[in-house]
Amino acid sequence: MTFKKNMLCIGAGYVGGPTMAMIAYKCPQYKVTVVDINPARIAEWNSDDLPIYEPGLDKVVKATRGRNLFFSTEIEHGIKEAEIIFVSVNTPIKTFGAGAGMAADLQYWEKTARQILKYSESSKIIVEKSTFPVRTAFAMERIFSSTENDIHFDVLSNPEFLAEGTAIKDLEEPDRVLIGSRETPSGLKARDELVEIYASWVPKKRIITSNIWSSELSKLVANAFLAQRISSINSFTALCEKTEADITEVARATGMDSRLGNKFLNSSVGWGGSCFKKDILNLVYLCRNYNLSKEADYWEGVVRINEYQKERFVLNILSAMFNTLASKKICLFGFAFKANTGDTRESPAIFISKRLLDEKAELVITDPKALDNAMTDLDGIDGKISYIEDPYEASDGCDAIAVMTEWEIYKSLDFEKIYRSMVKPAFIFDGRNILDHKRLFDIGFNVFPIGKPPLTHY
Ligand code: NAD
Ligand code: UGA
Repeated sequence: MTFKKNMLCIGAGYVGGPTMAMIAYKCPQYKVTVVDINPARIAEWNSDDLPIYEPGLDKVVKATRGRNLFFSTEIEHGIKEAEIIFVSVNTPIKTFGAGAGMAADLQYWEKTARQILKYSESSKIIVEKSTFPVRTAFAMERIFSSTENDIHFDVLSNPEFLAEGTAIKDLEEPDRVLIGSRETPSGLKARDELVEIYASWVPKKRIITSNIWSSELSKLVANAFLAQRISSINSFTALCEKTEADITEVARATGMDSRLGNKFLNSSVGWGGSCFKKDILNLVYLCRNYNLSKEADYWEGVVRINEYQKERFVLNILSAMFNTLASKKICLFGFAFKANTGDTRESPAIFISKRLLDEKAELVITDPKALDNAMTDLDGIDGKISYIEDPYEASDGCDAIAVMTEWEIYKSLDFEKIYRSMVKPAFIFDGRNILDHKRLFDIGFNVFPIGKPPLTHY
């Protein structure tokens, strides 16, 4: 089979894998290769057991793998062959040196850029798919123009807005696709080429273009706004608990204002995930670098309130359970940072587990998809922890249940059976407000939702 063009994606993670699988699915005329430095990850992408759990992903990969979608570790060959290269490597928070704990660690993309430069034998379009600090494209261009040859690279910014758990739907029907480019003839030509690829399945009115810096910044701003919304609703939960207001009723009344909308108003134990915190802290770092301290402080507050929310949840458990958790068994319902994913990066459950273990509680962790990651996250931490997939078995003999993740299955459990198997008085701390609190109370539980008055038998 001859293909119209060869596309390469460097980085076979949560973004690179699903995104390129969708492009391959919708554009059979292109050969799409995804490479990674991690051979184990590539082997999993080539197996029946994909490295990430994402509803609908199996179907898309099965339909395309070996047809026009290939997973490989041959980075050099991939670069030589490709006309378009997506860069989808990780951009975590820097853990060392200047900007540690705030700035993005750019070593992965820089290594990638240097590899592209080293192995390229022809001109290429380079697409920033990872989330980068604004003006990363400038640094990339500097690297690409650091040797004298006839090879030309056009750098585009095409940030990814998918959310885990709904990635396939988000990719198939995106709210928008954003493509930023240089406003030079070759920059605009490269941009149009990428527009055409997406236009294979995305309505043109949803494909928007902008200057490259706006595109890079828009991704950070979108995540900052999303996290801010959750922090905002969460910031009212303590007040609700003190005043007998109900956060669900408050969120409904607020969200029915069409100017505000009703999405992302679910109060919780705190937001998690690999990106919100790192992207906001990266924005904060950028602002400070430009001496914009008021703006930096404003956005840092969104992260601070989230840290407080997680700590507040632990302190609520402690005070409800008579100010001691020592030797009490607490069952965590869910460990993933949200439902429908096995991903636990920055999951509130990690922080909460550590804090409960500090209080000498024993933990039993249950989750339908995230137990392997949970074991890795808590590896080497002092304290008693067991991992049990079945929620009935997990809660058997426990003093309390704390809901960490809004998995659908938890809503329809037989809580009478669970109550009978638990130590009394039995407690439920619903960190996601997904359970029927009145019913749980009637069964006999002491129920502590988020942002609502507790229902207790004492
Ligand atoms: P990830 O850690 O799952 O995947 C990144 C992959 O890149 C890893 O498999 C790693 O081995 C590989 N890699 C690193 N350096 C490499 C190199 N030099 N050559 C080849 N492979 C290399 O990360 P992710 O969650 O897919 O996120 C990637 C980027 O996308 C980040 O910038 C993130 O902010 C952004 N993003 C993530 C999501 C999400 O839902 N996870 C959504 C939108 C945007
Ligand atoms: C988020 C954004 O939604 C994506 O658009 C973006 O592409 C992505 O980050 C990224 O850049 O990585 P994701 O983190 O996968 O996606 O998941 P979200 O649905 O945004 O949830 C983030 C966290 O907020 C989860 O812990 C979730 O449980 C929590 N959340 C979400 C709430 O507590 N309340 C809500 O109302 C919504």
